[in-house]
Amino acid sequence: MKSKTKIITIDGPAGAGKTTVSKELSSRLGCVYVDTGSLYRAVAYEVCRCSVNWQDDEELSALLSSLSFDLKLQTGGTPRLFSSGQDITDYIRTPEITKLSSDVSAKTLVRHALLGFQREIARNSDAVFEGRDMGTVVFPDADHKFFLFADLKIRAIRRYSQNNNADILQQSDAGHTQTLAEVEEAISKRDQNDSSREEAPLKPADDAIMIDSTDLAPDEVVDKILSYITAR
Ligand code: DC
Repeated sequence: MKSKTKIITIDGPAGAGKTTVSKELSSRLGCVYVDTGSLYRAVAYEVCRCSVNWQDDEELSALLSSLSFDLKLQTGGTPRLFSSGQDITDYIRTPEITKLSSDVSAKTLVRHALLGFQREIARNSDAVFEGRDMGTVVFPDADHKFFLFADLKIRAIRRYSQNNNADILQQSDAGHTQTLAEVEEAISKRDQNDSSREEAPLKPADDAIMIDSTDLAPDEVVDKILSYITAR
């Protein structure tokens, strides 16, 4: 019988460095990396594509029961995300989908629909799970829990320069590039939205190790996390 899989959770607000750190950590540990935000983004993408009124529970529920997602996981890399067999990885990071993913993630129906999918992944693979409620709700018994945070200004600068390094991602549907001030405002609103929702709000688990990444390079954060993991 396979022994229990090892689960490491990395939660925190947007721009705290979770993605870079989680990928590098999974690479150093030789386990898979799971980006759970991509699942909420995929729901938002399908809401848009199918013109669903997500505030109407009946419409939303019908959409959710028609969805079929698949994540092709990797060690140290971005998982490819398939929706009904279609690779949608490159379409889920526009500013519009980013905002809508935060809105739909507040819906209990959505969170419940994605819960089993996330736990199923953990049954078969050692993994680094990145998200907002990994340590609090999805994996309360995770082996190691971390919560990354950083000053808002630094997070906005990081996200802004990421966007500028990937020009397909910075275009809004309105056809203009987000300024630094707009990125900061969008992150701040998303923080507020993600932390104030009733269901599985963004917050550290009581037993999570808190890491302030404001003045740390991603490698330094990974080293810190590894030192906690090996010390236990
Ligand atoms: O990590 P991300 O920026 O790709 O996440 C997009 C949105 O999805 C985020 O604003 C809130 C939501 N989300 C969530 O509610 N729970 C998670 N575990 C991951 C993301």
